[in-house]
This record gives sequence, structure tokens and C-alpha cells, in this order.
Amino acid sequence: MYRSHTCGELRIADVNKEISLSGWVQTVRKFGSITFVDLRDRFGITQLLFAENLNALLDANPLGREFVLQVKGKVNERSNKNLHIATGEIEILVAEFTILNKSAVPPFTIQDDTDGGDELRMKYRFLDLRRNMVKKNLELRYAVGRSTRNYLHEMDFMDIETPFLIKSTPEGARDFVVPSRMNPGQFYALPQSPQTFKQLLMVSGYDRYYQIVKCFRDEDLRADRQPEFTQIDCEMSFVEQEDILNMFEGLVKRIFKDVKNIDYTDVVERITWEEAMWNFGNDKPDIRFDVKIANLKFPLHTFPTKQSQSTLIDGVSFGVFDDVETVLAIAVPGCSEYTRKQTDELTEWVKRPQIGMKGLVFIKCNADGTFKSSVDKFYSPEKLKAIANAANAKAGDLVLILAGAEEKTRKATSDLRMYMADKLGMRKNDEFKLLWVLDFPLFEYAEDDNRWVARHHPFTSPKPDHIEVMINNNPVIENAAEYLKHPYAGIKANAYDMVLNGNEIGGGSIRIFQRALQEKMFAALGMNAEEQQHKFGFLLGAFEYGAPPHGGLAFGFDRLCAILGGSESIRDFIAFPKNNSGRDVMLDAPSTIDAKQFDELQIKLDLK
Ligand code: AMO
Repeated sequence: MYRSHTCGELRIADVNKEISLSGWVQTVRKFGSITFVDLRDRFGITQLLFAENLNALLDANPLGREFVLQVKGKVNERSNKNLHIATGEIEILVAEFTILNKSAVPPFTIQDDTDGGDELRMKYRFLDLRRNMVKKNLELRYAVGRSTRNYLHEMDFMDIETPFLIKSTPEGARDFVVPSRMNPGQFYALPQSPQTFKQLLMVSGYDRYYQIVKCFRDEDLRADRQPEFTQIDCEMSFVEQEDILNMFEGLVKRIFKDVKNIDYTDVVERITWEEAMWNFGNDKPDIRFDVKIANLKFPLHTFPTKQSQSTLIDGVSFGVFDDVETVLAIAVPGCSEYTRKQTDELTEWVKRPQIGMKGLVFIKCNADGTFKSSVDKFYSPEKLKAIANAANAKAGDLVLILAGAEEKTRKATSDLRMYMADKLGMRKNDEFKLLWVLDFPLFEYAEDDNRWVARHHPFTSPKPDHIEVMINNNPVIENAAEYLKHPYAGIKANAYDMVLNGNEIGGGSIRIFQRALQEKMFAALGMNAEEQQHKFGFLLGAFEYGAPPHGGLAFGFDRLCAILGGSESIRDFIAFPKNNSGRDVMLDAPSTIDAKQFDELQIKLDLK
């Protein structure tokens, strides 16, 4: 037997027991004739005491960091207790020891606060995974998975596996493809999600399906995106949007309780996509802090339900505002005393290429009720006050105003809102705020291709009231610049996203389940009948055999775990992640393959 206990198990009540432990050497400390060793395994750390009688043996067999060691001995009460660790009241008086394996000197020390830099950590990920902080993340991931499975099982969901070697399922990214040896010249695609399979399972009558499943997308990577990632993928039959929102609020609240011991009793707020864009410039707003955008000027056709406020800024011949389509403001709490240097820094920040604004206008709402701004020359104190009021600014606030083209300015204002919130500590890692964003547009217009694309995916249904608009209008656009005036631009989807702390953690929709409407949808996306049959004949065919109304959603499992763990980067919640170029630097993948493999596949490489 290698061990009687783990390194995290022994307590004061075990004193005098004869035990054995196995683990890794964390540290070796020699004090005169005695040696202390911290022995580590997944469960904890136990202090070992090698007394003088073992000195000669230790000299002959010196211990190093990360050696794998087995010891036998007796549990002792420690004279110098460490109450910060669970085993800190005891130590093991070692009677005998065996070095089970030696270790080379690790390229970085396995400690909580040293990591040797990203590149090294990823190359030696098996060592990095020994570090507590990474281990805690994987433990959290496991807990989220367990809680999810328990809840969905209790709610009568059934876990059903779906294949990885499939035909393309469009979710907006590129496919990873796999050549088929048995079908030369033909390729499988790896699933971007199990979307069509879960819909087929509904046609088959499985009613409530789930799977914690790998998805593969060849897209540009960011902190919250990996080429292979995991979804909690769900689908239900005979449901409307309301049923789905309730079911999955329940899931997330259960995870909060099980994993973080948080009773999330707040009502989960719901806003429409249009309200999200209007108030936050973003379809996944962080609502932990109450800063909303004031829409001083905007293209009226973009927000047909909103009133113009441009009288607030018009009429003073200020070109920066007069010559653009959009002027947006936010009031940043408590920053009216920003110095020239600080406002200059903010101006530089918005001018960075990633943000791309030409400049920044500010109004300081002084504590004494006066206003000081960078546009005093143009606007009277009354006008400044009116603008500040529109931005909901209080005395002591700093109003920041951006002007430019609609899409860019809205995104920049959203980014600035988040930047200021980070700066002012308004985005707290341990505070969680959920939000449903509803009523997304069904279509997006791809200017480069001059055609409509599905904003979510082509299986999402339009809002019932908008089906007629879709059926009765031709998707063709005569004048690309006028696409927002096309009836399709106003069609809303029966789709919803769940947002947690400014991150999209899940999304889904009520699906189309009738062949005729699905065909209309494909046609709207520019697919002729032949192409529809070639790509989705199986689904269209299935819809002819009693497809029930159905809908579902998928959570980004890695993202959910990362946010619960207080991070927006998913990499440390994945045991073996890829770097930003999609490489596994430990395996050195992707890599070339043997000539023999090419031969078998009947493929000749001819790189362009
Ligand atoms: P969607 O494409 O919105 O929906 O994906 C669902 C959720 O998966 C997460 N996610 C990612 N996480 C890490 N890396 C990525 N590259 C990545 N891409 C997406 C996000 C997202 O909210 N089939 C539909 C779901 C449905 O309609 O039921 C789908 O895949 O958190």
C-alpha cells in the first residue's frame, strides 16, 4: 500500500497513529540536525519531520523539489502550529522513507504566487496544474458540472451524446474539418454545436435533452474564446420562451447555491436587445453599476421607438457634434475633480486604434453646482446643465461625451463605460448580476456579401407577430446603404441571451419547427432549394414527420466557470487550453502529419 491517508487528511485526533503517506516534495528545510519536508498531494500538505537518526540516509538520498516520496511514521502534535492549513496542528515523525521517483528541477516553482510566465506555464501545463490556484479552478469547474447534472436530472432532462464527425452546422464561425480515409476527397466537419442533433432528438420525442459537450469553432480567439470549448447544451419540447427562461434561471441559481453558497433571490432582470443597445451600447451589458448612456443624437431609423434629443446639442455651430450621426454621453460618478492630466489620459484612451474615436468632450459637474467643460466656448452653463441632466449626472460627476458614426460610437461608449467602471472598482468579482436580453433582431445585414445572415442561427424562429413580415417580403435589397429601411431589419427573433456581469454566458431560441418556414428562412439567407436540400435535407425531411414545437439554449460552460471563479479569462478553467494562436504549446499542435497519412487520405499538400 502506498499510503494509509492523503496529505490533507490527518488531524490532531490522529496523534500517535502509525501512518503512511505518498506525495510530492514541496519544500525541504534543514534546521541543524533535523529536516522538515512539506509533502503535497491533491488533498493538501502535511509536514514531515526527519529526525537526526535519518541524516545519513538523507545525505545519501537527498530530496529535491517535486520528488515523489513515500513515508511511514507516527503522527505527532506540532509544537509550532500553523492554523492556516487543515493539517497544521500535526506533523509526521518519519520512521522510513522511499523515493518513488526523482524530479528534474522544475522550470518554475510550484507555488501559488509564482508561475514563470504564460508561455512556460502552458508548455509545462502538467506542472502548472499542480499549483493550488489552477487546481481550485478545476475543482470549481467540476462542482459546476455536478450541480448542473443534478439539477437537469431532477428536471427530467436526459443526457444523450451526439457525434463529433458530422456535416457542417453553421453557428457563424468556420468549421474545423477532418478528412475521411474511407471516402477519399470528402470531409467531416466538427460540430460548432450539437444544434441540429438536439432538434432531431425533439422530433424523436426525447422532450428534454442535455449534454455537457465539446464544440469546435475556427474563429479569432480572445480571453473568453477557445477553438474547442464546452457547452451545457439543452433542448425542450412543447415550450415557449417563458418556460425556458424559468427553467434555466433555476439552473443558474442552483449553481450559485451549490458552488458559491449564494442565494440568488433577486428577480433576474429582462431587457430587450434594443433597450440594451440604447442604454448600454452593448448586447451584453454589465448591470452591476448604474451608469446608462444618454443618447444626445442618433440616427432615428436605428431606434424607431425613441425620441430625438438633439435640441440639447444643436444650434451652437459646434462642428464636432453637428457633423456626426451619433453623440452619446455617460456620467461617471464622483470624478468631477479629475485633473487636466487625467482627462487628457482619457482622451488618449479613446483615441487608441482599438477604440478609434477622434476625441472626448467632458463636462465637470462641480460640487458647488457650477459646470466646467471642454466646450465652454460653445455651450452656455444652462445648456451644459441640460446635457448633464440628460446624462443623469449629479453634483460631483464627470460627463464624458463621444461623437461619431453610430456603430463605432456606441461601441466606444460601451467600452468607455466598462473602462471607467473597472478604474473605479465598480465591477466587483464577488458580486453577481444576471440579466436576460430578449428580442434580438432575427437578421443581420452582411454588407460585404450584400445579403442577410442569421444573427443567432438559421433555426431560430421569428417572433410570432413577425412571421407574416418574413413570409410576405422579398429579402432582396436594392440599395445596400438603405438596408435598415428593409422590412427584414425590423424582424425580431424568438431568441434570448443570458448575461452575467457583462459576459454572454448562454444563448438560445424557440426554433422553427415547420418545413415551410424553415425553407423560407434558408431562402432569406440566400440558399436556393438545391443547396437547402444538400445542406439540411435531413432536417427539412424530419420536420415532415411530426416535429413538436421546441426550443432550448446553450451555456458557455468555460465562461460560466471563469466568471464564478472571478475571472474573465477562460483558459485557467480548462485543463489543457490552447494559446491565442490556437496552439497547444505543450503538444506542439497543430503539426504536420506523415507522408504515409497523406497517402492513405489520398491528399496531396499544395500550400498556397
Ligand atoms: P451560441 O453560439 O450563442 O449558441 O453559443 C452558446 C454559448 O457558448 C459560449 N461560446 C463560447 N465559449 C468559449 N469559446 C467560444 N469560442 C465560444 N463560442 C460560444 C457562449 C455562448 O453564449 N446552438 C446554439 C445554442 C442554442 O440555440 O441552443 C449556440 O451554440 O457563452
